[in-house]
Amino acid sequence: MTADHEPSVTPPVVLKLGGSLITDKNRPETLDDAALDAACDAVASALADGAVERLVVVHGGGSFGHHHASEHGVSTTTGTADADAVMDIHGAMTELNRAVLDRLHERAVPAIPVHPLSLSARPAGPDADLDLPLSSTATLLDEGFVPVLHGDGVATAGSGITVVSGDELVVELAAGLGARRVGVCSTVPGVLDGDGTVLTSIDSFDAVADALGASDATDVSGGMAAKVRELLALDAPAYVFGADGLHPFLHGEDAGTRID
Ligand code: IPE
Repeated sequence: MTADHEPSVTPPVVLKLGGSLITDKNRPETLDDAALDAACDAVASALADGAVERLVVVHGGGSFGHHHASEHGVSTTTGTADADAVMDIHGAMTELNRAVLDRLHERAVPAIPVHPLSLSARPAGPDADLDLPLSSTATLLDEGFVPVLHGDGVATAGSGITVVSGDELVVELAAGLGARRVGVCSTVPGVLDGDGTVLTSIDSFDAVADALGASDATDVSGGMAAKVRELLALDAPAYVFGADGLHPFLHGEDAGTRID
């Protein structure tokens, strides 16, 4: 994939903070305070010590977005025409986004929200790529900010509003901005093989398809197999890691599973 916004400076790092990491998934709309603080500490110190110059953060929904989406029967493929349902989902996500921003601001990180619902669209057709205009994110980076996007609702041709996941945003951002490195931080320490052991690196889907339980090359069930396939398609090396991997990842070291 080629970058639409080829930066003349160091390409950005794209980091996803999984919803399962930063929220308490057993309690609706509850943060995991300690995990969120630790993640924000790692981000702030990597920016402060120059390990990362340009950073885009994406966060997932955890117990904020998923709770409302499932209550209203909305998913990445099933949409809604009910504005109240959309506001429940989007409202919860902007609340979580605000909490992430506040904690980054407390640590002097110049974080600015970018709300996908206001920006993005899903064209008609099962194979259509998400349309995510990147000029605001690219300009924010150029101006020294840290754009913070999140899983959200997204206008979808023929289906009203569906969910756009943080993972989809990560792939679009990484490809479109020509990311240097991509990190997906969640509660799992990496991509696990069939025995529950973290795979150190993945360079071909076929080599790991069995271990990931992917039935065939058209598996669209989501989950780790789909994530690995999408990350493999990127030019940039991608890493899937747990909380312990965030500091090394941001400092240019290997963490969890390297997908390249
Ligand atoms: C979900 O985003 C967003 C909504 C439900 C609105 P993700 O699918 O990226 O969230 P996590 O990281 O799995 O929680």
